[in-house]
Amino acid sequence: MNDKLGLPVGTTLDRFIMRKQEDFPYATGELSQLLRDIALAAKIVNREINRAGLLDVTGAYGQQNVQGEDQQKLDVIANIRFIRALRNGGEVCTIVSEEEDGVIQTGNTKGKYIVAIDPLDGSSNIDVNVSIGTIFSIYRRLSDQGCDGTMEDCLQSGVRQVGAGYVIYGSSTMLVYTTGNGVNGFTYDMTLGEFFLSHPNICTPKTGSIYSINEGSFNSFPDGVKQYVNYCKENNYSARYIGSLVADFHRNLLKGGIYMYPPTAKSPNGKLRLMYECNALAFIVEQAGGKATNGSQRIMELVPTELHQRCPLFIGSTEMVNKVEEYLKAEV
Ligand code: AHG
Ligand code: MN
Ligand code: MN
Ligand code: MN
Repeated sequence: MNDKLGLPVGTTLDRFIMRKQEDFPYATGELSQLLRDIALAAKIVNREINRAGLLDVTGAYGQQNVQGEDQQKLDVIANIRFIRALRNGGEVCTIVSEEEDGVIQTGNTKGKYIVAIDPLDGSSNIDVNVSIGTIFSIYRRLSDQGCDGTMEDCLQSGVRQVGAGYVIYGSSTMLVYTTGNGVNGFTYDMTLGEFFLSHPNICTPKTGSIYSINEGSFNSFPDGVKQYVNYCKENNYSARYIGSLVADFHRNLLKGGIYMYPPTAKSPNGKLRLMYECNALAFIVEQAGGKATNGSQRIMELVPTELHQRCPLFIGSTEMVNKVEEYLKAEV
C-alpha cells in the first residue's frame, strides 16, 4: 500500500517527513525537525514505559497537577522528556502541558512553533499495563520571533493547528499524525529504533458499531446522550471503553466508532482538555474523514480562553456523531 505520496509501507518516518517536505518547496524544514524531535521523545518515553515495572517508576509521584489530579511518576517523566526534547530541538518557543500550571518558555525565542501536549494520556492505566498515549498539537506563533511566546500564541483555535498527532504505547507503539494533508501511522521497531510507515493515508469509516463512554456516569448524562446510549444498545453495538482516550480513539479511528465524554455531575464541562486532547484528535479525525464536536459546535472552532479549559467531546465516525447530535438537539 502507498500513501498519497506513493511512498511504500515500510518507509521510515525520517524519509517520509523529507518527502512530504519536498511537497512544500517553501518549507524551511523547521516543522519537519519538530516532528523528528517529538518522535525522539516518544522513543525515550516508550523505553521508560516498557521498563516501568522494573525501575520503580510506577505509582503516584506525590503531587497534584493543576487539574487536581494525583500526578503519576510517568506523567512527570513523560512531561520532562517531551519538554527537554522540544527545548533541545530549538523549533518551539513555548509549550502548554497538562502537567504544568502555566506555559513553559523554552528559551528558543527564534522558534516559530507552539506545542500543546498531554505528555501521558490514560494515567490511571499506567500501573495495570493497559495502553496509554501522548497527544500533541502544533501551532505557528503569531508574535514576532526574538521573544518568548505570548498567551495569544498559545490560545489559538484548533483550526489554526499546523500539525497534530498522538503516540499510542500499546501492544505496539505507534505514532499517528497529520500536517493537514491526510493522516499517516508509523509503527515503532524497537530493535532498529525506527518508526516505519505502517498505516498510510488513514481514512475512518463513515459509521460504525462501537461506542465508547464511561457509563458509570450514565445517571448524570444529558438526556440526549442517555437516549443515544440506549439507541446503541437497541442496535446491538459493542461497548468498548479502555479509559485511555488515545487507545479508544485509535481503535475507533481504524474500525469506525464514537468516543463520548459528555458533561457529567463530576465534570460539568466534560473532563477532556481542549488545548491538548480535543483539538489534536479533532484535527486528526477530520483529516481522516470523521467529525468532532462538543455536542453542537465543531471542536476546532471553539475559541480557547484558558490553557486547561475542558469541553465535552463527541468524536469519531461522522454518521455516529451526527446521530448523537440529533438526540441532543431534540432535547433542547
Ligand atoms: P489523562 O490521563 O491525560 O489525565 O487523561 C485521562 C482521560 C482520558 O485518557 C480517558 O479517556 C478519560 O480521562 C477517562 O476518564 P474517566 O476515568 O472519568 O472515564
Ligand atoms: Mn491527567
Ligand atoms: Mn489525557
Ligand atoms: Mn495526561
